[in-house]
Amino acid sequence: MRTLTYLITGAFAASVLAACGGSAEATKSVDAVPAVFTDSGAVKIPQNYREWVYVGTPLTPNALNGGAAPFPEFHNVYVETNAYKHFERTGKWAEGTQIVKELVSVRENNNDPETGASAEVSGLGYMMGEFIGLELTVKDNDRFGDQPGGWAYFSFGHKPEPYNTTAEAFPSEACNACHETNAETDFVFSQFYPVIRAANGT
Ligand code: HEC
Repeated sequence: MRTLTYLITGAFAASVLAACGGSAEATKSVDAVPAVFTDSGAVKIPQNYREWVYVGTPLTPNALNGGAAPFPEFHNVYVETNAYKHFERTGKWAEGTQIVKELVSVRENNNDPETGASAEVSGLGYMMGEFIGLELTVKDNDRFGDQPGGWAYFSFGHKPEPYNTTAEAFPSEACNACHETNAETDFVFSQFYPVIRAANGT
């Protein structure tokens, strides 16, 4: 009897949700889940960012950069899910948008001395090794009105986990300026992210 009551209640709740557009619709109306800041204004490391929308992985290996690329690792980029959905609908980055870039080393396995590629069963190539750094950008014109476009840039360390738990914003000339000049979609390098290009139809 008890089970039956639950079943009926569950079915009723589901039909009410469906009639109101469902809980997924309610989530969608939040344009972006904002970053969390400490009282002193440092940003806290985002939680569960590997479950955000993964948009692409640029790679600038040492072998193609005179042996010393500034970031020789893979750059895995994830956009906070609600901000991604907002971008998909509007082609614009909402206030509060968070995007992370996680650095992943190139796997070490009998690496070819000329190319740095690892030797694997599928051939010579660049395979992912270990997590080795985390950066974040946040668009927030209320908090960062002094930064062009309202975009602030942070690093939780260029090192293996555990990463730093908080980070201070960089001065705009350190990060923001290159993004402002070279990135395709409002300071974001969407030209390198096939998932974003597909979402936006560009
Ligand atoms: C010389 C240009 C340049 C500078 C300076 C720069 N970046 Fe970037 N950034 C890029 C490029 C190019 C990408 C595209 C992905 C890639 O290759 O890593 C990128 C991507 C990113 C992303 C992913 C989201 C996006 O906008 O595409 C984050 C986060 C990021 N950078 C953080 C930083 C931080 C933090 C700094 C300062 C410490 C910084 N960047 C300085 C060129 C730059």
